[in-house]
Amino acid sequence: MPNVVIVGAQWGDEGKGKIIDLLAENADSVVRYQGGNNAGHTVVIEGKKHILHLIPSGILHKGKLCIIGNGVVIDPTALIAEIEELTAKGIEIGENLKISELAHVIFPYHRALDTANETKRGSGKIDTTHRGIGPAYNDKFARIGIRMIDLMHPDRLEKRIQRNLEEKNFMFKQYYAVTELNSRDIVGPYLALGRRLKPFVTDTVTLINRMLDEKKKVLFEGAQGTFLDIDFGTYPFVTASHPTAGGASTGTGVGPTRIEKILGIVKAYTTRVGSGPLPTEISDGGEDLRTRGREFGATTGRPRRCGWFDAVVVRRAQVLNHFEQMAVTKLDVLTGIPTLYICNEYLINGERVSSFPASLEDVESIQPVYEELPGWNEDISGAKNINQFPKNTRRYLDRIEELVGAKISVISIGEERSQTIMLDPFF
Ligand code: GDP
Ligand code: IMO
Ligand code: MG
Repeated sequence: MPNVVIVGAQWGDEGKGKIIDLLAENADSVVRYQGGNNAGHTVVIEGKKHILHLIPSGILHKGKLCIIGNGVVIDPTALIAEIEELTAKGIEIGENLKISELAHVIFPYHRALDTANETKRGSGKIDTTHRGIGPAYNDKFARIGIRMIDLMHPDRLEKRIQRNLEEKNFMFKQYYAVTELNSRDIVGPYLALGRRLKPFVTDTVTLINRMLDEKKKVLFEGAQGTFLDIDFGTYPFVTASHPTAGGASTGTGVGPTRIEKILGIVKAYTTRVGSGPLPTEISDGGEDLRTRGREFGATTGRPRRCGWFDAVVVRRAQVLNHFEQMAVTKLDVLTGIPTLYICNEYLINGERVSSFPASLEDVESIQPVYEELPGWNEDISGAKNINQFPKNTRRYLDRIEELVGAKISVISIGEERSQTIMLDPFF
């Protein structure tokens, strides 16, 4: 198996966790490269559901090195809670988990700022996960962020927290009119968290590059999805990092030529959680699809907005990530829907457009142009190969391949590991 970036092709929740867990069996290591505990990656093994937020989705396999790269923002309290939850389930976490010393840390003032910002935005809110992700990346780029390595140094940590709080408290008081925070309540607990996490913190750049020197196989686990990317997403309704494949290089310290393949994870329809444009959203928010697909957020439990397959979106994701192969997920969810719709063009101000527009106003005025495909009623969730699929299922997949311009290598027809059809010997 090659070294692969696994990237969401839509607005997140494409089923990355399931596919990563599956591919991890043949890999040596799984590395998260961006985002934080805004992510919720679900892995279901024999009916048992595990939702991973910060820990790579390879952790359920014994002996796979799971790495949290420098591009991730880490809430140490959330990370420890996740370690404890997994440990309580009997999943061993020790030498198999490594954390980059360069990763930036989320502090209580980031979470408070996230919520305060959202309140200020009022009806224009982004509907973030309130995990402090955006404010933590803000500090990173403002060059006042605090990194994992700093958690191990009491003097340094205290000074930096005080410096940051001086600015944040001014904002809390003068602009947001919310309660100020006290550095004493943060420094002590964060030093304790630093001591807990110290055994895991290391130079992951050297570690990953050495694995690649030794021809070991590394999976790069994207969080969120292409259309939540800070540059390429539906700005400003995006997250604050680079989920796109390029982020795997900067988020881990691995040169781009060392990455051999990109696998786009593509849901067989479209979902989005939070506000912002969703051109193919079904007028009632897609309640039927939501019920069929059990589309509720793995992190926040919020209902996901649902819509038809948008080929313009996935084609754009194909270009941005240059994935030549796709994993199509949740195909089983479409069973029983008499007519399926695929959008391959937009009408914007009366003009037909087949590429994704840059301006938010244009995106918001999109009227999708649909083609209709006949659905199928047969249960496909137990199929072992595509020959067992009804004709209309294959037709739907063929049309997706044709419109996106990438090969379908993996088909997921249920949440269990066994409900997957691999069409490519690589994976
Ligand atoms: P991620 O964030 O991309 O890892 O995706 P989430 O875990 O947030 O959401 C995907 C949901 O769909 C999870 O509840 C998965 O267990 C479930 N799932 C994944 N693949 C399939 C599939 O092929 N069919 C069905 N029915 N459910 C799936
Ligand atoms: P996974 O990895 C779906 C969305 C939020 C919000 C926007 C910004 O499970 O696919 P943030 O808290 O990141 O500043 O919120 O991004 N969002 C996700 N949507 N899946 C995710 O992750 C998401 N992570 C963030 O709902 O609209
Ligand atoms: Mg998710």
